Amino acid sequence: MNIAVLGAQWGDEGKGKIVDLLTPNFEIVARYQGGHNAGHTVYANGRKFVLRLLPSGILHAGVTCVIGNGVVIDPQALFAEIDEVAAAGIEIGDRLIISDKAHLILPYHRELDLLSEARRGERKIGTTSRGIGPAYEDKIARRGVRVGDLANMEALASAVQHNVAARNRIIPESTMDADNVLADLKKAWARMGPWVKDVSLFLSEARQQNRAIMFEGAQGTLLDIDHGTYPYVTSSNATIGGVCTGLGVPPRAIDGVLGVAKAYTTRVGEGTLPTELTGEMGNRLRESGQEFGAVTGRPRRCGWYDAVAVRYAVRVNGLDALALTKLDVLDGLPELSVCTAYRCNGTTLTEMPGDQAQLAACEPVYETLPGWTEPTAGVKSFEDLPSEARAYVARLEEITGVPAAVVSTGSAREDTIIRKDSIAAKWFRR
Ligand code: GDP
Ligand code: IMO
Ligand code: MG
Repeated sequence: MNIAVLGAQWGDEGKGKIVDLLTPNFEIVARYQGGHNAGHTVYANGRKFVLRLLPSGILHAGVTCVIGNGVVIDPQALFAEIDEVAAAGIEIGDRLIISDKAHLILPYHRELDLLSEARRGERKIGTTSRGIGPAYEDKIARRGVRVGDLANMEALASAVQHNVAARNRIIPESTMDADNVLADLKKAWARMGPWVKDVSLFLSEARQQNRAIMFEGAQGTLLDIDHGTYPYVTSSNATIGGVCTGLGVPPRAIDGVLGVAKAYTTRVGEGTLPTELTGEMGNRLRESGQEFGAVTGRPRRCGWYDAVAVRYAVRVNGLDALALTKLDVLDGLPELSVCTAYRCNGTTLTEMPGDQAQLAACEPVYETLPGWTEPTAGVKSFEDLPSEARAYVARLEEITGVPAAVVSTGSAREDTIIRKDSIAAKWFRR
């Protein structure tokens, strides 16, 4: 049984916690897109880990972690992360597999990311400035450098010299030197080489041996390059199709899809957030939810649960179930609002509009539900939740049309409710 776990909102839904929690049911965890723009927080062994490129199953001994061709890799960021994890006593050894077809983020991609944002001025995306977009640009323009290219220094030298010269023409003040870039890549290959493999072949053989695989998404559905709130998106397919293209696996390798959604909404960076709360309530959610970027530390914009957006994620990804996270953040609020539709230029929309100008003109239509006074923080069984919290979850299930198979009530592994009666129960035996 292989499942995909991906974001059903604008990222930071708590994918890291959920993937880590479910990992004991799987032998392999595979990231299919994104790069170190991702920050997946996991609390384990009494410590906090923020995983960026390493799949969130890495903390479990014996689990093989795969970085697919759809991921863009900054070698220095990868090594820094490996060192951090190793310093915490996590043995990686041969548990890591990196696709030879994954594209590299090179120093000029970071420069170009900053430059492009500066040039956009008020239209800036609010990127993580990690060079993600420019690296994917090079991939699509067919001039990118792939991990496997590092094995052939001669061909690599000519490609890098050409690319650096081209970039130095775009950024006249750049002092980047191709020889320095190449020297770093040579060192990177010496360290990375042993982990590099044909990922599609590895996963195909794993499937033949009935080894269970979890596919881990980064970012979220509304940040997807095709299906998100374009242009305020990331540059990869965070949605379900990314699993096939980003790992070289067929659609029938995916037996189930679990979407991760917060019990409210957050977004970091620019772009419309229909249910955004800018006043006191927004601050209340940010403070109690500790909504500050795991990677950049930027404050996240907060708002009520947007069922239109999550319903869209259900449709685009064919979600079987949701993992509803951070229910505890809503503890103590007298009432809660849920956006069930948008009101846009006199019409009511129940589907997410694709056009950003239209989305920006939308007002959320809210339904109000009672809050709860007893805390849900740390509650481990659905029956132990206050009745209003159960009613809130039930209403979200009704509006989105999928069961909340997992309800998370804290950042620790044990602060989780796994619904035994849910259709997803067979995925989580351990
Ligand atoms: P990801 O990118 O989807 O993995 O999510 P992030 O790690 O960027 O952000 C989620 C944040 O919420 C992290 O700080 C988690 O530790 C935290 N978190 C996850 N689930 C819960 C929960 O149920 N309750 C609370 N209070 N925090 C949670
Ligand atoms: P995880 O995996 C939340 C956002 C950035 C920006 C836009 C484009 O932790 O959920 P990029 O650097 O990718 O070109 O930035 O996407 N973004 C994220 N927001 N969570 C993430 O990852 C994100 N990765 C990128 O803030 O708005
Ligand atoms: Mg994150």
